[in-house]
Order: sequence, then C-alpha cells, then structure tokens
Amino acid sequence: MANDSVFDVIKARRSIRSYEDKKVSDEDLRTILECARQAPSGENAQPWRFIVVRDQENKEFLAQTGKNGSGRRFTGEFLSKQMHNRFKGLEDPEKRKRVFKKLTSGNVSAFVSQADIVLMVLGKKDVWDLPFDTSAAIENILLAVTGLGLGSCWLVAPCIDIRDEIRLKEHFNIPDDLKVVSILSIGQPARQPNARPRIDLDELVYNETYGEKLYEE
Ligand SMILES: Cc1cc2nc3c(=O)[nH]c(=O)nc-3n(C[C@H](O)[C@H](O)[C@H](O)COP(=O)(O)O)c2cc1C
Repeated sequence: MANDSVFDVIKARRSIRSYEDKKVSDEDLRTILECARQAPSGENAQPWRFIVVRDQENKEFLAQTGKNGSGRRFTGEFLSKQMHNRFKGLEDPEKRKRVFKKLTSGNVSAFVSQADIVLMVLGKKDVWDLPFDTSAAIENILLAVTGLGLGSCWLVAPCIDIRDEIRLKEHFNIPDDLKVVSILSIGQPARQPNARPRIDLDELVYNETYGEKLYEE
C-alpha cells in the first residue's frame, strides 16, 4: 500500500532484503529516478549517474560481488575482534554459529539478485561533495520507493574493495572518471521487517554546547 505524508514515508521505510517475484512498473521507476534527480547537491553539481539493472545475469553478478565484499568485511571484523560486540547478546552456540557463517560467507548480500531492479549509483570523481550529493539522491530514492509501496535496500558491500570496483567497472563498461558509490535493490517486498532500534534523542542532541542535553527522556 502506498504511503502519503512525508512523515509516514520516513517512518515506514525499512531496508528490504526479501522480494516477491513481481515487476516494478516503468512508471514507478521513472518516478523514483525523478526523485533522485531532485536531490540537493553542493554547487548544484548533480554528480550522480545511474545504471538500471534488470537482466538476471547482471543482477547475479552484482549479488556475487556483494557477497565477496560482505564476506571480506565480516571476516576482517572477526580477525580484528570487532565481531565480538555483535555476539554479546547471542548466547545460543548453534545460533552464533549460523550467524557467524552467514556473515563471513557473505550470504547476507545474496538477496540482491531477487529484486526486480538493482540500481547502480555512480558519482563523478571530480566533484568535491560527491559522497554527500549521492547520499542525498539515494535517500530520496529510498523514500520514493517506500512512498510507492515498494521496498529497497542500500548496499555498499559490493563497492568497498577497489578490486570489486574494477570488476564492476569492466562488467558494466563504466568509465574511469566515475566512482561506483553503492547499489540499491528495488522491488515488491515479500514482508515488512520490524523497525531496527534507534538511539534516543537525549543521547544525540545537545543544547548550545556539546554535553548539555536538550532532551531528558
Ligand atoms: C551507507 C549505508 C550502507 C549500507 N550497506 C549495506 C549493505 O552493504 N548490506 C546491507 O544488507 N545493508 C546495508 N545497509 C542498510 C543498513 O544495514 C540499514 O539501513 C540499517 O541496519 C537500519 O535498518 P533500516 O534501514 O531497516 O532502518 C546500508 C545502509 C547505509 C546507509
């Protein structure tokens, strides 16, 4: 069901990682891309470029690249002992094993190929504000997708490692003056996940000077 008010849309947005086998209409796709184009950018540089990927083999390629990236990232987390924090609340040894395997195998990113569309977000490397500009466009996309009753997930996993970026550039014929910033899966959600926890405002916001809380919750 479509959401209307901007506040409803912001609240309803979730990272969607399972999709129904259903097409996104060309009209909806165009609305989503139009919202991306309306995002603010430093000096109005508009450094974003997009590739719409619908071909199954290309989507599998992106999913595999995401799996490689996630696998390396979580293996790195384990080796540098950062992963211990993730397992703090997880007592059941079997569940720990399952989660560990899913993270280090990279299978957490496998869902990408299920989505009807994978949108590649590229950015012009010679633009100073490229990370901020493309992030603004991506957030517009996520909200537009939610407003249309569709679902999306923002992934950097396939774009972190320079070796993966080189492979993506070769595969998708992307010129060297563009950076592969992120990919977004877009499709009909198979289910609506629960909201992930958010830090309370009293821990985030200060009044006039850092440390003076604006809110006491
Ligand atoms: C910059 C950025 C990178 C992300 N990269 C990934 C990713 O590689 N894989 C993934 O499954 N989710 C990724 N996410 C989604 C986050 O995990 C998700 O936004 C967060 O857990 C909060 O959940 P929510 O989006 O449902 O509110 C990313 C989100 C952002 C903003």
